[in-house]
Amino acid sequence: MPSGPTPGIHDLSFATTEFVLPHTALAAHNGAEIGKYHVGIGQRAMSVPALDEDIVTLGAAAAAPVLARHGTDRIRTVLFATESSIDQAKSAGVYVHALLGLPSAARVVELKQACYSATAALQFATALVHRDPAQRVLVIAADTSKYALGSPGEATQGAAAVAMLIGSDPALVRIEEPSGLYTADVMDFWRPNYRDAALVDGKKSVTAYLRAVEGAWTDYREQGGRALDEFGAFCYHQPFTRMAYKAHRHLLDVVGRDADRDEIAGAVGPTTTYNAVVGNSYTASLYLGLAALLDQVDDLTGRPVGFLSYGSGSVAEFFAGTVSPGYREHLRTGAHREAVERRRPLDYAGYRALHEWSFPTDGGDHPTPAQTGGPFRLAALRDHQRVYETR
Ligand code: CAA
Repeated sequence: MPSGPTPGIHDLSFATTEFVLPHTALAAHNGAEIGKYHVGIGQRAMSVPALDEDIVTLGAAAAAPVLARHGTDRIRTVLFATESSIDQAKSAGVYVHALLGLPSAARVVELKQACYSATAALQFATALVHRDPAQRVLVIAADTSKYALGSPGEATQGAAAVAMLIGSDPALVRIEEPSGLYTADVMDFWRPNYRDAALVDGKKSVTAYLRAVEGAWTDYREQGGRALDEFGAFCYHQPFTRMAYKAHRHLLDVVGRDADRDEIAGAVGPTTTYNAVVGNSYTASLYLGLAALLDQVDDLTGRPVGFLSYGSGSVAEFFAGTVSPGYREHLRTGAHREAVERRRPLDYAGYRALHEWSFPTDGGDHPTPAQTGGPFRLAALRDHQRVYETR
């Protein structure tokens, strides 16, 4: 790497869906004890997309405030990370590029490796900014998480998008080297091309995640990374928020430390607030954790934060970011809370109707009902093409 300024996250904004299903409604339907959801997996509600919302509308809604604040001139790359892709060939980022009026002199690609790919995008973006510090890269992570009705994974659905502007003088978080890396071929969670709901071996996936935490951390230390005690907080990928606690407990075990309940809660608790009510947003989940941490903790200036990104299949990365001086002036705490609070609650029947709906595949003209109040909507599927609208 050439020497120079340390790139990182200059701005971060998230968006979520029109609807929300409280776990009380799911428990009332399936007879589960609510403690299993509220305590056992640490989830209180899940975001549910309207029929006219998808990863493109969510990604554009997350990115629009970032571009309104910083303009588009310096953005020559858009990296769109997702595992709920809407097309096998065309990047969802190209639709977002058009909706947001980004310059034509730009490269736009989609990245996939389950929930991990936003971290790949972040790392690729920092490398591009190292190469040319005048440029900025727009990273968008957007996912809608869908499991079969009645399956164990159902309670861990959710949806959201995070947009991050990566630049050479980051106002929020500087991304450090080194990274700890880990890849293992595991069938813990996957989605064949012909399915819209993921398949998962739940228990195996939890074990695979913990093994990946250990592998990524071990490599991080071997690469010369910081000692555990240097970190002010830890952001983990959160398929459900209790997983962050399990992961941190495992990390403490790995380094030979007694796992103190309060220490674990202090290290990861503040990162779980948005994920607990949004649910699993796959690629966006880790960075929703960062948003919650920055929005809630009084002052993290100069503190290193540990990030553990996990994507089933599986790939993991552990890396550190240092919080920039003055970061609190650049947060979007009010907008983030509004994104969560504006959602309209569904009852079980309403949720089920949205879950079961899918577009006909006959190539006809299929307009969607106008359900979302967001700035962008999927207006129709026409001639096998997705048609988007800006409000
Ligand atoms: N009060 C308090 N706690 C309760 C309870 C009650 N009334 N009832 C049950 N619990 C606890 C259980 O003891 C259990 O705790 P532990 O995990 O500490 O043992 C917890 O609630 C969950 O209960 P079960 O294990 O019985 O739940 P389950 O088998 O129905 O499903 C799951 C759990 C396997 C995680 C399931 O939600 C699932 O398959 N989720 C999707 C896969 C997933 O999220 N995997 C995570 C790792 S993979 C990854 O991270 C990638 C990704 O994004 C998918």
